[in-house]
Amino acid sequence: MIDFHCHLLPGLDDGPETMDESLAMALALQNAGFKTIYCTPHAMKGYYDADNKAVLSAISDLRTRLKDENINLEILPGREYYLDEFLGSYLKQPLPLGKTKYIMIEIPNYVLSSRFIKEAFFRIKCGGFIPMIAHPERCRLFAVPKKKTISLSWLSSAKNKTSGSKTKEHSLINYLKEIGCAFQGNIGSFEGLYGAEVQKTAEYLKETKVITHYGTDAHSLQAITRLNMEPMNLELKT
Ligand SMILES: [Fe+2]
Repeated sequence: MIDFHCHLLPGLDDGPETMDESLAMALALQNAGFKTIYCTPHAMKGYYDADNKAVLSAISDLRTRLKDENINLEILPGREYYLDEFLGSYLKQPLPLGKTKYIMIEIPNYVLSSRFIKEAFFRIKCGGFIPMIAHPERCRLFAVPKKKTISLSWLSSAKNKTSGSKTKEHSLINYLKEIGCAFQGNIGSFEGLYGAEVQKTAEYLKETKVITHYGTDAHSLQAITRLNMEPMNLELKT
């Protein structure tokens, strides 16, 4: 199983503070069946300012300790970039997920302008990378409307014509899919870890095949041990 989103590196963000905590998390991830972990510390100006060099150095240190402790886990570098006005400067020297072209981006809930999101992600694509949206089910812009039952109109194709000859504007999620973005769901979202609304959106995004990757988004040992991986086994193995 692959964990595409995990705060496993010590001392870089709001994840583990010490190497011992990281090792305990790594052991729990191994015991849960994971083989590969993408370590994605936050990159958020003024809050989490560790640079790429610090991330790569932490990866190297953790690999050494994992070997010493006989924990058989492949760990790969990455970042969880925050979508704000500083993203552009961070992406002058992007750190994708391992050797992939994926750049993980978290969309804050206060970003209500879909135009801003479209432009930011389109620029990343033009730069030769693939935006991977971190836990879209937690983003209010993607929330399934409260009274709505499963309906494809939420994801309706933008190619539908209106009564005139004008083309209807693409829904945000369709636009992001069409330009080739990836969508990473949090395992805990499917268990209601973030509330009923997020759970409902997560299930819907899974059923409609929007979710392309999965991750724990774990920040601590406790966060890993309380997760039930079993229902997600199939998806995590792909
Ligand atoms: Fe995260």
